[in-house]
Amino acid sequence: MTAIVVVGAQWGDEGKGKIVDLVAERADVVVRYGGGANAGHTLKVNGQKVVTHLLPSGVLHPSTRCVLGAGMVIDPKVLLDEILELEGRGLSVRGRLTISSRAHATMPFQAAIDRAANAGPRAIGTTGRGIGPTYSDKSARVGVRLGDLVSAARAKPAIEALVEAYRARARAVGAPEPTVDEALAYVEPLMREIQPMLGDASLAVDRALRANERVVFEGAQGTLLDLDHGTYPFVTSSNTVAGGACTGTGIGPTRIDAVFGITKAYCTRVGHGPFPTELHGPAGDSLREAGEEYGATTGRPRRCGWLDLPALRYAARVNGLTALAVTKLDILSGYDEIPVCTKYRIDDAHTSELPVDDLERAEPVFERFPGWKENISKARTLDDLPATARAYIAMIEARVEVNIAMVSVGADRAETIVLGDPFARGR
Ligand code: GDP
Ligand code: IMO
Ligand code: MG
Repeated sequence: MTAIVVVGAQWGDEGKGKIVDLVAERADVVVRYGGGANAGHTLKVNGQKVVTHLLPSGVLHPSTRCVLGAGMVIDPKVLLDEILELEGRGLSVRGRLTISSRAHATMPFQAAIDRAANAGPRAIGTTGRGIGPTYSDKSARVGVRLGDLVSAARAKPAIEALVEAYRARARAVGAPEPTVDEALAYVEPLMREIQPMLGDASLAVDRALRANERVVFEGAQGTLLDLDHGTYPFVTSSNTVAGGACTGTGIGPTRIDAVFGITKAYCTRVGHGPFPTELHGPAGDSLREAGEEYGATTGRPRRCGWLDLPALRYAARVNGLTALAVTKLDILSGYDEIPVCTKYRIDDAHTSELPVDDLERAEPVFERFPGWKENISKARTLDDLPATARAYIAMIEARVEVNIAMVSVGADRAETIVLGDPFARGR
């Protein structure tokens, strides 16, 4: 087995960064295939914290090659800042990074419109990083790709049409109007640095797979934020599900061997939209404080609630999960009982499937499982866990019908119980 997709099974922030960093220890190449700087992936190694937004979370392993695929939207300034920050920590990045020249560039005026539109009753609560506008412009075929920006001669005609469209939009919301000259002056010094890393990401990954190297595709966001399969319109603007790894990289589905889903032992969501198991008031506050649930990109408090099994089963289906990692089990220490949503009630009917349209009206039906009091962050095998924590994990595995390959009991790379090989199908 050589190629594995790691994907968020909830609304993002499941701990993908920590798990990708861990599996990347055994990988030759780590690929980001979708999203942009809306992602915030936190890595903790020996007490040191790093947050990646655009670079794959395998970047901390100095010999791992990194790829940013065509399906991404890349703000060149954020990317360069991230590279410089890691270089400042003594980690060289440029020589082992391939950036697809087909990835679309996010310009400052696209981020400004995203922020200006982020209010009112239909607001999504976006991260304000220009993600929606950049993907919309790509779909409308007026977007600018990184490869279009390598020289002023190519960049000028590419940028002109986009700037023209944004002048009217900026006027409408009272934002400053962009100009072509300003946009060119902005990208020129950034692209001088980035250009040497541009290349054919599909070819780079294909070559690695042909050489029987191990490739990890790192999903951003989570299944329920997928543009087609999430809680539309409260979603991001890309395909976050495992299938996005193929379209976002330029490799065929037959090349993928395994799909590793990441779920918290409870649920969080940041931004607006339906969240059936959300806890309001002090119960939600205490889960937020215990789990330090504040956005890694925006610092916003995350909404918190209990584990939602119909949503997790849905994630298993739409991603074709071959294994699961359960993170943040340590945060559930201290409860007498842990409620878990096993089905929903909509009007007078019960369903254990995630409804396609009616999630706002779905009321969670909870079963309660015995909790534990012990601090479990030192556990490194299942036997180190209290019996009730083991039973909680076994319950998730049985109800979702996917093998659990890892249980995470702390933010650090080392704070993990490894049960199986996520590169393999099953244990
Ligand atoms: P991502 O976007 O999926 O990579 O997740 P984030 O990094 O946005 O959020 C997950 C947060 O939980 C980060 O602060 C991690 O350091 C932290 N984390 C990950 N796994 C664990 C765990 O098992 N226990 C605890 N206490 N924290 C964890
Ligand atoms: P990682 O990779 C959690 C959410 C935003 C908002 C919606 C649309 O760290 O898990 P966007 O800026 O993408 O247009 O916002 O999606 N969102 C995330 N929530 N984790 C993320 O990334 C997210 N990326 C976007 O909060 O609700
Ligand atoms: Mg995150």
